[in-house]
Amino acid sequence: MINTEMPQYTIVTLDEVPSTNSYVLENMPYLDNGTIIYTSNQTAGRGRYNRHWVCDETDNIYMSFVLKPVNIKNYPFPNLTQYLTVCVCKILERDFNLAPVIKWPNDILVNNCKISGILAETGMKNNTVQGIALGLGLNVNMGKETLEKIDQKATSLSVLTGRNYNSEKIVRNICDEFFNNYSSFVEKGFNYIKDEYLKRCFFLGKNITISENGEKREYFAQAIDDNGFLTVKDKFNNQCKIVTGDVLC
Ligand code: BTN
Repeated sequence: MINTEMPQYTIVTLDEVPSTNSYVLENMPYLDNGTIIYTSNQTAGRGRYNRHWVCDETDNIYMSFVLKPVNIKNYPFPNLTQYLTVCVCKILERDFNLAPVIKWPNDILVNNCKISGILAETGMKNNTVQGIALGLGLNVNMGKETLEKIDQKATSLSVLTGRNYNSEKIVRNICDEFFNNYSSFVEKGFNYIKDEYLKRCFFLGKNITISENGEKREYFAQAIDDNGFLTVKDKFNNQCKIVTGDVLC
């Protein structure tokens, strides 16, 4: 079978950039499928819902994948962040001996503290998708002082292991993991990662709070369905699907 989605990639390292996702969106026509824009110095990083993503100068990972799907109609875009979440969890387990868990849809926590966040955005022109910026922030060497300024409990690889790391090597390992199975994920969608995703979802079977548009609601977390959506029950025992929002445990 001809592999139409490419396993080759190129990492472009920038000294400093406001946001790697913004850089990709602004330069989309000139960037090839499979380019990774990486910096350890991001001055205006964005998180989900336009929240600020904190950066300091201790060599952390701020990177965005440029993805230009061959057939956007059949592309599993809603599950792309979940795919990268699983890839990063595997690296944290294999290379750092950590036990990361997933907070739906794509936060990675270790010891109940967030270590990584993911943001996927599309570049549009004339109502057509030009490409995707899939951004990943991973706290590598961030110290306690900066972590304490973050508006939720956060951690880093150095705090967890007591060592400092070279971020570039970790970036390469994440890219290898991502592109090794990318074509299969594109072909099969969420089902390809469902088991790997589910086994790290710590909140299933528990009472959770979901925050959406500033509103908080209480639910019982039941399952993740075949589309990667969260299935919950409300206090009247009505079942519903959560498509967007934040799980606050
Ligand atoms: C979140 O958890 O809210 C998502 C955070 C995503 C942060 C990354 S850092 C690299 C890329 N560039 C950005 O401006 N944001 C993403």
